[in-house]
Amino acid sequence: MVKRVAPVAPSRTMRHLSVPRQETQLILSQLKAESALPEGARVQMDPSDPNRTLIPVTEESQTELLSLYPVIQAEPPTAPPRTYRDHLPSILSQDEIQSIDWPTRHEFVGDLILIKLDEQQRKFGDYIGKAMLMQHTRIRAVFEDRGVIGEFRVRDLSLLAVRDGFDSTPKTRILESGHYLWTNPSTVYYSARLSHERQGTLECAKKLQAKLHRPISVCDPYAGVGPSLTPLLKEPGLLGDLYASDLNPAAVELLRENITTELATIECVDARTLHERSELCSKFDLLLVNIPHDTLEHLPKLTPLLNDGGTVRGWIVLEEEEFDSAQETLKKILGKAVEIDVRRSYSATANLCRFESKIIREMM
Ligand SMILES: C[S@@+](CC[C@H](N)C(=O)[O-])C[C@H]1O[C@@H](n2cnc3c(N)ncnc32)[C@H](O)[C@@H]1O
Repeated sequence: MVKRVAPVAPSRTMRHLSVPRQETQLILSQLKAESALPEGARVQMDPSDPNRTLIPVTEESQTELLSLYPVIQAEPPTAPPRTYRDHLPSILSQDEIQSIDWPTRHEFVGDLILIKLDEQQRKFGDYIGKAMLMQHTRIRAVFEDRGVIGEFRVRDLSLLAVRDGFDSTPKTRILESGHYLWTNPSTVYYSARLSHERQGTLECAKKLQAKLHRPISVCDPYAGVGPSLTPLLKEPGLLGDLYASDLNPAAVELLRENITTELATIECVDARTLHERSELCSKFDLLLVNIPHDTLEHLPKLTPLLNDGGTVRGWIVLEEEEFDSAQETLKKILGKAVEIDVRRSYSATANLCRFESKIIREMM
């Protein structure tokens, strides 16, 4: 009778050279030149001697190095998981893993991950959230991002997973250009992609201050949670006066948490009504107009806030064919020809553009 041997898991061990640590690079180069390094070879410390490393050698190699250094059978180190998908085998079956195309893109906002899912992927949303938390240890919660909604262009979020013992709120703190800000993608608009524009605003404000030889007054009537303003406030002596507002009460609540200086007046108000308040008219050196879909419509109601020689810096989303007429409209509103710079593409046919200009009152 033939006795069957119980099946055993195939051994993963392979030949390694144990070499002095300082010779590692040299031996690696020689093995590479001799095509004696296995694919994806990884060097590890020799567990019996921390001053030596183990370098894998292919089974076929006859390299003379095998006779010069101790040869040790060792398991190659396992590769660390590189994406959340590498964790799925620990929570789902192979059949389940192979049943859909897994999402490959997601967005980090503070200690949150926001991810867009299609219908098939949504069925595995909880698992995606769980695997994301396994992969990204500093992340607190994962939300499905179902797109932009409402007049305040906020995200429709649905919780997929939260780390045990932590809060499941989408309120989070982000770090932009060295400044911390509270935001909440489900109740306020905030986009990290505009941080470059905000650096430009800081440069613009500094130039104005240098020209006027005094701290300047700034009005940001579409302030959101205040990302354009925090860099200005950190600059000693730059601001003399600050007015920041937004129509979204949730944004104003966070704005008050983010901007605590006594210099600032913060209000929840429709920007288009500010010109009705005499105490705000002709008051500001710098006006920010960041309502890109409605800038041209709102702008005539905002220019009375600027003092003589004041500067307006604004952003507009423009389709290519709208470019010339936007330039004409700006010329009429601001009293002089204004250059519109394309900053980045907004959609297949539209761009986010920026203009910056002094206001000429005599011609208005
Ligand atoms: C494009 S976001 C800009 C936010 C902020 N400046 C930033 O860079 O993140 C436009 C902001 O305008 C606010 N908003 C929309 N309509 C408004 C209005 N009529 N008056 C004042 N704020 C308004 C929105 O709530 C939103 O926070």
